Amino acid sequence: MTMMSILSALLDTCKPLVLTSLLLWLVTRLWHEYIIATKDPSCSAPLPPGSMGLPFFGETLSFLAKGSQYYEDKFKIYGRLFMTHLLGAPTIRVRGSDHLHKILHGEDDIVSFEYPKAITGILGKNTLVQARGQHHVILRKRVATAFTHSALEGYLPLITEPIKDAIEHWCNQPRTITYRSMQELVCKLNGSILCGFHYSDTDVAEITELLFQIDNGILALPIDLPNTAYRKAMQAGKKLREKIADRIRMKENLSTQEDDQDVLRVLMDADLSHFGSKGESHEIVSDNAFDLLILGFGTLSSACTSAVLQLARHPHVVEKIKEELEAARILDPHVPIIHKSLTDCKYVNNVVKEILRNNPPVPSSFRKVVKTFILDGLQIPKGWTVLYSIRDTLKFSEHYKNKDIFDPDRYSPERREDKKEGVTTILYLEVGNAHVQENSWRP
Ligand code: HEM
Repeated sequence: MTMMSILSALLDTCKPLVLTSLLLWLVTRLWHEYIIATKDPSCSAPLPPGSMGLPFFGETLSFLAKGSQYYEDKFKIYGRLFMTHLLGAPTIRVRGSDHLHKILHGEDDIVSFEYPKAITGILGKNTLVQARGQHHVILRKRVATAFTHSALEGYLPLITEPIKDAIEHWCNQPRTITYRSMQELVCKLNGSILCGFHYSDTDVAEITELLFQIDNGILALPIDLPNTAYRKAMQAGKKLREKIADRIRMKENLSTQEDDQDVLRVLMDADLSHFGSKGESHEIVSDNAFDLLILGFGTLSSACTSAVLQLARHPHVVEKIKEELEAARILDPHVPIIHKSLTDCKYVNNVVKEILRNNPPVPSSFRKVVKTFILDGLQIPKGWTVLYSIRDTLKFSEHYKNKDIFDPDRYSPERREDKKEGVTTILYLEVGNAHVQENSWRP
């Protein structure tokens, strides 16, 4: 065989591979150009660096496969801002407290609250998450009545015993898988506080599984096909809504005095006439209870798991917590726990802040750009999604000293690292501005 015939045989074998690679490169390039063309032509600033990935999928598959490592790799290459295509939308990922400040204080001016399709398809329609403008303000006031200090105090007796029982049970097991156990506990506690569910152990396992499926589908591609995470989440959502509807029907036969004072009851008694007819307000009650169950599930399970992890790693912190709780008589079984005695425990509160700083349960959130604006001299175009990063902002923040060390004393009156200029906004983010501040950045 001559050299020429070997080469030609090799070329023949490689041709399909070369052609496919070329085609793929061409399609990916066209897709990139097609998306880039949607930038704002009236703005002279360039787009942030980055790539748009594969047609339709963008970089979603690589994000799903690599998780947080995906962002870390990108930030390493591009710095604080980069563009990509995620969950069906051209997206700019941003970190840095100055950038987050601009975005969150530009609500309804440069950005508006809009989650990706998967989230909005799964969550309720008439809820805090999806309401806009005046609707949101009124709804927030109504829902907030279920979370006042006195309301929270009313929930304490509902949760103290189940928490004690769960901890005792875990301690008697040779091995406990913390995250799954936390999910079951959170499912039980949220279920009773939010909807007055009184679950058996089988119910807890079933409802935890439903919540788990929904949580999984929330950040998936919104592809409604058999066996996709999105389809499974939709199906699980349907079953959970049926359970809430049963609960509402049961509660309708009880007067306020006869009924448990759970969040569902508070919502049922709230004046929702602003939102339309009685039937429509029923839907709002049910949708909001559904959303609260979902939004409180992953966040709290994650925060409680991080708490166990950090406490196990730092026994001296556990000792200091014990001292403070004993002094406040919170460990005395004969003294009822009141909300104020919990908020007075300054060290415990600092431990909670430090857990949320180290392991923020909500690593990032979304906004839709409604007016093109500029960050670091780069264009953030109208119509694109901005994905602001809470975790990476905290991780790279210069405000915390020795930030890799778990140190609750950084919030002590002598140090107040959380009160330094520029830090406050970020701490709100750790626990969700929604929960700690009366005047949210949302209108
Ligand atoms: C440690 C636990 C939690 C953390 C870290 C957390 C974090 C957050 C963050 C960062 C946001 C704002 C998202 C944005 O504006 O882009 C948010 C919003 C929200 N969260 Fe949480 N959350 C937690 C627990 C809960 C719980 C237990 C519930 C329900 C009982 C809940 C219900 C909500 C709702 C309804 C919103 C939307 C509020 C609004 O738009 O007015 N969260 N949360």
